Amino acid sequence: LYVPEGQHIGRELIHFDEIDSTNNHAKKIANDGCPHGTVVVAERQTLGRGRVGRLWQSDNNQGLWFSIVLRPDLEPEQVQIITLAASVAVVEGIFRDLGINCGIKWPNDIILGNSKLCGILTELSAEPGHVNYVVVGIGINVNQSFSEFDADIQDKATSLQIHAGKKISRVKLLAGILTCFEEMYNKVLEKNTKDIIDRWNKYSVTLDREVKIVSRDMEYIATAQSVAPDGKLVVKCKDGTVREISAGEVQVRGL
Ligand code: BTN
Repeated sequence: LYVPEGQHIGRELIHFDEIDSTNNHAKKIANDGCPHGTVVVAERQTLGRGRVGRLWQSDNNQGLWFSIVLRPDLEPEQVQIITLAASVAVVEGIFRDLGINCGIKWPNDIILGNSKLCGILTELSAEPGHVNYVVVGIGINVNQSFSEFDADIQDKATSLQIHAGKKISRVKLLAGILTCFEEMYNKVLEKNTKDIIDRWNKYSVTLDREVKIVSRDMEYIATAQSVAPDGKLVVKCKDGTVREISAGEVQVRGL
């Protein structure tokens, strides 16, 4: 794997044929003091994890399943910007390598057409005022054919191969995404939040759309306006009030 000189991200790269979850392993080695920028990649995951306790189908060697360990000098409250930066890096990495345009669906799904191509699971270890480490887990559907997806996700998922009509090099794609991630991560460290948010907005398919927000005690329609640096979705309700929605609290139906 070619990693350009001067890069920190991916300088240490640990590869598994099979593992439970690259995020689990990344957290383990982060606890044991592995260097900033270590990447864990696996051909197959037996227990790939998605957001909100879901399973992530990754029991085949057709996708790109990897996790990045970061040790940023940030307050725990500022870490969410890293997930936004990672979404942008995936979109730009795919575009630079393959010329394919993907979109970002809030909070951090990468979509192609109307289907999900990639999911990101960020996990944080922190104490008040101090971040121990952040693990950014990225799962991209690369060479799966339609029938390789589990029946229950076939109408929601897609892969780069389905879109491009040809096999894609996962190694080259990984190197490209890590290069883009390094660029975006440098913006995080420079506190260049505006550039990250601007790019995120540019790729967003959620903004300016009507979304249905479903929480435990209410349900309403609003228009998505922007994403805040803490990752919250800013929406304008029918009565003109503006609210900030966090991903953990609500489910947004529709785009
Ligand atoms: C989601 O959209 O729910 C997030 C999916 C994240 C999947 C990736 S695959 C690599 C890493 N290891 C995991 O167990 N999960 C993430």
